[in-house]
Amino acid sequence: MNIHVKRGWYRGRPAFRPRLGREGFFAVLAYCPRCHKDFLETKELQGMKEKLEHIRQEALAALAETKAAADVETLRVKYLGKKGELTALLKQMGKLSPEERPVIGQVANEVREALSSALEARKQSIADALLNQRLAAEAVDVTIPGTRPDLGHKHPMSIALDELKEIFIGMGFQIAEGPEVELADYNFTKLNTLENHPAREWTDTFYIEEDSSLLLRTQTSPMQVRTMERQKPPIRVIAPGRVYRKDEVDATHSPMFHQVEGLVVDKGITMADLKGTLNALVEALYGKGSKTRFRPHHFPFTEPSCEVDVQCHACGGEGCRICKGEGWIELLGAGMVHPKVLQGVGIDTDIYSGFAFGIGVERMAMRRFNITDLRLIFENDLRFLSQF
Ligand code: PHE
Repeated sequence: MNIHVKRGWYRGRPAFRPRLGREGFFAVLAYCPRCHKDFLETKELQGMKEKLEHIRQEALAALAETKAAADVETLRVKYLGKKGELTALLKQMGKLSPEERPVIGQVANEVREALSSALEARKQSIADALLNQRLAAEAVDVTIPGTRPDLGHKHPMSIALDELKEIFIGMGFQIAEGPEVELADYNFTKLNTLENHPAREWTDTFYIEEDSSLLLRTQTSPMQVRTMERQKPPIRVIAPGRVYRKDEVDATHSPMFHQVEGLVVDKGITMADLKGTLNALVEALYGKGSKTRFRPHHFPFTEPSCEVDVQCHACGGEGCRICKGEGWIELLGAGMVHPKVLQGVGIDTDIYSGFAFGIGVERMAMRRFNITDLRLIFENDLRFLSQF
């Protein structure tokens, strides 16, 4: 319905002159083109329309102030809810005439629709603003280069140890492990080291018991005895591990270092087997054609004993800084297993013989990686370690 409202001093037909008490001023003249009917707008209708308009203005103004979705919802309840202002107003429709009710109904619907779409729009824009805020705050620049996670790697000592293990496994050796806290019996006595031997001195060895019966092993050689006690020949084992000696720390000494013990026991093992095996080791480490030198030496548990040197790979034997002018670099101690050691573990020396050797792993690693100070290996400074 289209309603044209006029307000002002009455100038129309006498029939529509307002009744007593309101002379001169008429409220509303309305004309409906659809039903072709004129009618007056009563004060009640006008009042309700004004109230509706007031509600609309007030609600829209309040809505413009809202900052959060919850505030919008509060307004929706206040104005459009079951107990809201609009509903309350519509309950007063009883005051209106049957003709006026649909008029106010329509205005009320308009207000309701206008408000609910305004509420909805406001809700949406608050949500949009929130989203934009988050997008701005959580923005990820995918073009920035990533940070590479630091991957660790093997310690140079582990690299050297693993290399040695590989070489010996390739020659058919097995790997054995034994205790670092060792009985003096295994570290010395069963290795034919007499009671008064200088290696037993308290100044050289970390003893654990007052009676010198227990100690930190000073060499991996007790593994010779432990292996032979455990298994019968043929024996081909290496035993890598830590050993301890009362040495002051300097560029070439540390109270803890690593050795790899080797032991071969079988029928007819000779010094030739020892030399062949150790030459093969040296060639695997320093390349084909590397020269070795076997120097006579003494160990209580091998007879004969020797020390094995490799010709300096840096100067080819001339003598340089690396070999300290010697032309040769000391690699390991070795020898044929002493008959007393074999007999001590019940091996028949008429049938069996064997050889043994002990490699100092730090020295080998230092040469291999050109490390000039042993302390670097144990300090674990990342600037040092990351080079390997
Ligand atoms: N155990 C000896 C050392 O520490 C090395 C060695 C091992 C010598 C085996 C001969 C046989 O010096």
